[in-house]
Parts: sequence; structure tokens; C-alpha cells
Amino acid sequence: MRNLGHFVPLCVVFLTFVILAKAVAPSDSPRDADTGQSSYVGGNHTLDPESVSQFKQLWNATFNPDEKHWARPLVHTLSSSGRQIVFTASTENRVRTFDATTGELLVERQILPPWPMEQANCTQLAKTMGIMGTPVIYIEYEIAFFYVKSYIEDYRVPGGAKPPLNAVYYLYAVYLETLQDLYKFPLIIDDMPADNDPRKMFLGGLVLQRPSLLLLGDMLYAGFGGLCDAFNYTGSVVAVNLASRNIYRWTTQAGPQSQYTDDWTLWHGGGAGGIWQAGMGLASDGKDVYFTIDNGAEIRGSNISTAPVPGRTHLDILSESVTRVTLDEESGKGIQLVDWFRPFDYQAHNGQDIGSGGFAVLDEAFLTPQKKRIGIATSKNSKLYVHDLDNLGGYRQGRNASDGVLQTIHLDGEVFGGIGFYPLEGGYIYVNPGNAPLAAYKFTPSSNSSQLFTLAGKSSASGPHRGSVGIPTITSNQGKPGSGIVWVTEPEKGLLAFKAVPENGTLVELKLPKVQGANEYGRPVFGDGRVYIVDGQGRLIALGVK
Ligand SMILES: *[C@@H]1O[C@H](CO)[C@@H](O)[C@H](O)[C@H]1NC(C)=O
Ligand SMILES: *[C@@H]1O[C@H](CO)[C@@H](O)[C@H](O)[C@H]1NC(C)=O
Ligand SMILES: *[C@@H]1O[C@H](CO)[C@@H](O)[C@H](O)[C@H]1NC(C)=O
Ligand SMILES: *[C@@H]1O[C@H](CO)[C@@H](O)[C@H](O)[C@H]1NC(C)=O
Ligand SMILES: *[C@@H]1O[C@H](CO)[C@@H](O)[C@H](O)[C@H]1NC(C)=O
Ligand SMILES: *[C@@H]1O[C@H](CO)[C@@H](O)[C@H](O)[C@H]1NC(C)=O
Ligand SMILES: *[C@@H]1O[C@H](CO)[C@@H](O)[C@H](O)[C@H]1NC(C)=O
Ligand SMILES: *[C@@H]1O[C@H](CO)[C@@H](O)[C@H](O)[C@H]1NC(C)=O
Repeated sequence: MRNLGHFVPLCVVFLTFVILAKAVAPSDSPRDADTGQSSYVGGNHTLDPESVSQFKQLWNATFNPDEKHWARPLVHTLSSSGRQIVFTASTENRVRTFDATTGELLVERQILPPWPMEQANCTQLAKTMGIMGTPVIYIEYEIAFFYVKSYIEDYRVPGGAKPPLNAVYYLYAVYLETLQDLYKFPLIIDDMPADNDPRKMFLGGLVLQRPSLLLLGDMLYAGFGGLCDAFNYTGSVVAVNLASRNIYRWTTQAGPQSQYTDDWTLWHGGGAGGIWQAGMGLASDGKDVYFTIDNGAEIRGSNISTAPVPGRTHLDILSESVTRVTLDEESGKGIQLVDWFRPFDYQAHNGQDIGSGGFAVLDEAFLTPQKKRIGIATSKNSKLYVHDLDNLGGYRQGRNASDGVLQTIHLDGEVFGGIGFYPLEGGYIYVNPGNAPLAAYKFTPSSNSSQLFTLAGKSSASGPHRGSVGIPTITSNQGKPGSGIVWVTEPEKGLLAFKAVPENGTLVELKLPKVQGANEYGRPVFGDGRVYIVDGQGRLIALGVK
């Protein structure tokens, strides 16, 4: 844990704004989907199959030729004017606000120069590395938080901006009205040791902040992984108390048994174990944090025992696993591992690793007949795991050393991102594997069966190749039956929408105006009767009726 500077808590700053603090505008999108990452974004966006049938393109915005928006846009209604805005953040560290209705550019700011990342051999992501992870809005204060990658010339080594050792990460906080900084921000995260392994320093140039940010009260969580897997990195979670500005850092590969080298150029030299999730956010049940960890040294370099291990056993070195951590600031222990799951047949070598997908915490109205809470993981190993949220499953804890999960569903392809969930009309989950149709599974709890979810329908067409389709995201209109829509993006076809409840085994597609492709791993973002996506040409497109 690190306390930055003197205890001039941000809450003092915040408190002066309490009187002005606004209520949530119900049609806003202040974060990537929901806190649980179930991908049900509620019934307040005035969207249903009828309104969607009248959709047209309302406006579009173009950006600089090499600028990319991997971070998803967010939607917020300004309390000063009542105007709904779309907030964007790019790989050039440019943040912008647009009028949600007209597309008028309201404010633009380049926060800092982005890192020119030729030396990471990773330019397929973008020419420069700035903001990648989706920001989050602290609604009451109308402030967006996000991680910015930039550099300090000659900071650690000569060579100006380019050497990876001179790149750094900052946590920024900007007012949505002006895009100007909050007092006492930004915070620099660099040069911070991990709480669970002080050897492992945070070096911003060697890591990538990709998963969408998670805000729980005043605690902001971020996941970090590798930058095209180069360097001696180790995955980590950074938590910042926005009021006290205390920083906590937990690394996925800790302790004397974990791999460590101070040769920063060594590929996987730090043991890897990144947190990536194709950009999907860290999930929470309101208290603890859930995510997946990519492959790591422990698996790559050694012969792993196949002996079963319960998930509540403490491990210092985690990889290929679904993970639950907790942070109790008063304990003084920092971020602590609670529970984990690793598939009995994990495959780190064939690339079928588990870190390509995120974790979804389902609405607590959906319990098993034994009253267990449910969480769901998907990934590149072509399976969907239904977990007891309070007993993720450890390693080989099932019958005959199989997976100790509630249900395993075999999928037709690899998944990047996670599932979608529709909590109405009985409850459905959706999964969108590569080279396969979008599939819906109905919630079918039954005290005499372990089949919690049963295939209920598929889309008629298959999605394109792996690694490109987006996360199914669900809306309803005030929860009315029949109003549910599942939205997905595809790199060639753009934005697709389906009725949430399958009919006769088919997910029925709704007609939408043509959008020219979509960003890889994309997700549409919702405002008041409008849908925003980043298309395949890098434009921001607004669809709606008016
Ligand atoms: C609409 O938003 C309100 C609060 O903003 C929330 O309480 C309610 O559950 C939402 N309705 C639906 C159907 O999602
Ligand atoms: C973007 O908007 C402009 C102006 O309204 C329009 O002419 C153009 O066709 C739009 N671009 C796309 C790709 O739809
Ligand atoms: C990037 O590629 C160059 C040329 O192939 C190589 O010399 C260099 O080591 C690579 N850097 C990393 C970090 O992999
Ligand atoms: C990578 O190397 C640097 C020194 O160049 C060191 O500070 C850092 O802790 C190393 N990281 C890991 C994860 O081994
Ligand atoms: C794993 O075990 C096999 C068989 O005992 C052995 O040949 C191989 O060298 C071992 N690999 C490692 C990385 O220890
Ligand atoms: C138990 O697992 C082994 C190895 O995977 C398999 O050969 C065996 O048939 C399984 N036994 C039962 C009862 O499923
Ligand atoms: C549960 O048991 C009942 C009665 O035996 C049977 O009719 C039903 O099909 C079973 N349900 C499942 C999902 O196995
Ligand atoms: C489903 O079947 C019903 C009854 O046969 C029919 O009325 C309805 O049109 C069908 N729906 C679809 C989408 O095929």
C-alpha cells in the first residue's frame, strides 16, 4: 500500500460538491455495462424492437487517422445543462465530449502525449499507446477516471520518449463538463512495488491497462496485463482509494517461488499471468472482485502436478484461473486472494488459455435451488463454466478429478469477452463464440438436475472468425415482456440486434441501419433511445430514432 502525499483526502474535495451532487440520469452509461459484468444494462434506455425498427444513423464523428478507441464510450447527463453527452478516450490520449443528440463536439483535450510504442512490437493495437481501458464515471461528482500511458523523456534510461523504461502510467480524473483535472490528480502509479512481492515494481512501459475499470464506492480497481506479451511483466490489480489516495497493488505471481528477473527485456521473465479479458471489465458482487488470469510461468516452465487443490487454498502463483480477491482496508493486509478455479484440462501451450474471457456475476435473484449465487466464465478454451460464486471450484475438485463447477457447457468456438445475461422472462444467458452462431441458454433450475442452463436458441448465421465478435449486451424497455434486445458487434457486419427471447429455437434478428463494421471485441453503449458504437473505420456512430 502506498499513501501518496499528505492526507488531504479527496473526500474533502468531494464534500464541497455534495450539495451539487446530482441524481443518476437513468438512461446514462457511466461504466462499461454493469458492475457485475452480467451485461444487462437495464430498462431505462427507451429501446425495444419497435423503436429499433425505426432506427437511422443520427450522426457520426471521425478521428485522427491513427487514433483508436479501444476504450468504450460512456454516456452522462450534465447537471448544469441537462444535456446528455458521449465521452470518448483514445490511444492518442485525447478525450472528447459530444452532444449525445446532435454529435456536436463540445470539448476536446489531449491529456499528455501517448507513448510511441514501436519498441514493444505491438503496433497492431495502435501506433501509439495512450488510453486503452474503458474509463468509469463517478456519477455524483461528474468525474471520469481512467489510466493514461505516456512517458517521461530520459526518465530511467537515455533515449527520450521511446524506450519502454521511460513510459509511465497515470491515473487521471477529469470533470466531464470541462475535461479539466480534479484537484490532486493525476496520480502516478509507476515505481510502486507489489504489496505481495516488493521485488516486482510497477513499470508502466512494460504493462497494459486493458480491462474496463471497476468503481466500488470510493475504491477504483484496474487490471494490468502484458503488452503483446513482451518484457518481464507480471499481471497485477491496482486499487486506488479515491478519497485517501491510498494505492494497493497485488500481483498474480508473488513470493520466492515466482519467476523474477531484473532483466526487463526478458520475454515472460516476470512470470506473466496478465489480466486482459479482451477488454471486459473486472466484475464485482458489490464487495469482492472477480477476473481471469492468463497463462504464466508456473504452467509454461514446469511439470504441474495434477493433484486436486481446493479453491480456498492460498496460492502465491496464479495463472489460467478465475480469481476472486477482496480488499479490507482496515485489516491493513491489502488485496487478498479469496478463491480461484482452474480447469482440469487447462491448455496454456495451445493458446486455449482462460484469460481471453471475463467473469460475469449474475443478479442475486437468480440462485440455484440450493440458494447458491451464480457466476459465469467463458474463454478461449471453448467452454462456459457456471460457478457457485462462493466456491469457484479450485483445481480438479469435481467428481473423478473433473472441474468442481455447477455446470460446464461445451461451446462451438472460442470466446473473447464474456456472456450476456437477461434477467427477465425466466432468465437467459447469451454467448457469442467465434465461427459459430450467437447462442441463448435458458435458466432452468431444477432440484433434480445440475442443468442450470439449457440451450434455447441460436442465431441463423454464424459469426466471423475468432477474436473479433463483441460481448452480448442486453437492454429492455422498463422490463416489459418482449422488449428485451441482445446487441452484438461483428467486425464485418457492424452492429446486430436480436430479440432476447428466442422463438422456436431461433434468435430472431432485428433490422438495423448498416454500420461499416465494428471495432474488435466491441460493445455498443446506450443513451436515451440511442445506441453508440465505434465502427470498423474507427468512427463513432450514433443510431436512434431522433
Ligand atoms: C431504471 O432506473 C432506476 C434508477 O435510475 C432503477 O431503479 C430501475 O431499476 C431502472 N429500471 C429498469 C427496468 O431497469
Ligand atoms: C457521417 O455523417 C456525414 C454527415 O452527416 C454523412 O455524410 C456520412 O455519410 C456519414 N458517414 C457514414 C459512414 O455514415
Ligand atoms: C521487436 O522486434 C525487433 C526486430 O524483430 C527485435 O529486435 C526486438 O527484440 C523486439 N522487441 C521485443 C520487445 O520483442
Ligand atoms: C522487471 O525488471 C525491472 C528492472 O529492469 C524490475 O524493476 C522489475 O521488478 C522486473 N519485473 C518483474 C515482474 O520481474
Ligand atoms: C516434464 O516431465 C517430463 C517427463 O518426466 C520430462 O521429460 C520433462 O523434461 C519435464 N519438463 C520440465 C520443464 O520439467
Ligand atoms: C475418471 O477419469 C479417468 C481419466 O480421465 C477416466 O479414464 C475414467 O474413465 C474416469 N472414471 C469415471 C468413473 O468417470
Ligand atoms: C425432474 O424430475 C421430474 C420427476 O422425476 C422429471 O419429470 C423432470 O423431467 C426432471 N427434470 C429434470 C430437469 O431432470
Ligand atoms: C414459431 O412458431 C409459431 C407457431 O408455429 C409461429 O406462429 C411463429 O411465427 C414462429 N416464429 C418464428 C420466429 O419462426
